[in-house]
This record gives sequence, C-alpha cells and structure tokens, in this order.
Amino acid sequence: METTLVLIKPDGVRRNLIGAIISRFEAKGLKIRGMKLMQMSGELADKHYAEHVTKGFYPELKAFMTGSPLVALAIAGPDAVSLVRKMMGATKPADSAPGTIRGDYATIVTENLVHGSDSPESAARELALWFTAAELVG
Ligand code: RTP
Ligand code: MG
Repeated sequence: METTLVLIKPDGVRRNLIGAIISRFEAKGLKIRGMKLMQMSGELADKHYAEHVTKGFYPELKAFMTGSPLVALAIAGPDAVSLVRKMMGATKPADSAPGTIRGDYATIVTENLVHGSDSPESAARELALWFTAAELVG
C-alpha cells in the first residue's frame, strides 16, 4: 500500500470538477485517507514546489496555485503514486492522452487541474507538508 498527495488545483475547483476528479480515483478503487479545501499560502507553495522555485515558469505557477482555493487529498492504494500519475496524464495537455484527467479536461500547461507526487519519496515529503498524522485515516 502507498499513499500519495493529490491536489485538485484552483482551476479544477473553479470549474466545478472536484467531484468528477475524485470520482475517477474512487471508481478505480483508491481510498481517500485525507481531504481538505483550502487556499495555499506562498510559504507552502515555495516548500511544495522546492524543485521549481528557480524556474522561469514558477512565478506564474505560484500566482495560480495561491490565487484561489484548491483541494488537497491523501490517496491510498497499491502503487498509488504511479497509478495516480497515469490517471492524471502528461503535464502538457497537448501530450496527455484521452482518458486521463488532463487529456479529458485541460488545455493549458499551468492550469492542468491536478498535481500528483512523482515518487514515493516525494509523496512522503509532500504529505507531511499538507497533512498531520491525525488528519489521515486508515
Ligand atoms: P505536478 O507537479 O503538478 O503534478 O505536475 P508534473 O509533475 O506533471 O509537472 P512538473 O514538471 O512538476 O511541473 C509542475 C507544474 O508546473 C506547471 N508547469 N508549467 N509553463 C511551463 O512550462 C510549465 N511547466 C510546468 C504545471 O502546472 C505543472 O503541473
Ligand atoms: Mg511535479
């Protein structure tokens, strides 16, 4: 069993796609261990995106991610990290296959609806930023 961090980014909340996105993970058989609707602070953004803070696209990404509420989810299941990444689709919507979340709903690279941890190590680091142990069930 693995647990991974999923964010339904602000565009997903604004477009009323919270339910549609969560439904896909639930239908697949993954379990929700934690869930919160909140606005990401600049401080949390810099920690969460530590690998990206020096990149050219980061100011736009930070403004987008902190600009309105998002949903943070802790999602568990066998190989949850890679499974969730497959279900999300490629980062660039033009490359993401139909049948994936980004492939079905997104057209813009920054506003690509979902985040998923990219390795078990990233998942452990990111989950600790977003959830306390007491906020996770199971
Ligand atoms: P994520 O972290 O959100 O799950 O996405 P990812 O691993 O597929 O992509 P990553 O390379 O980690 O990039 C993080 C997010 O930054 C935005 N981005 N914009 N304008 C650009 O060139 C660019 N590149 C990345 C996207 O929102 C991406 O999901
Ligand atoms: Mg990433």
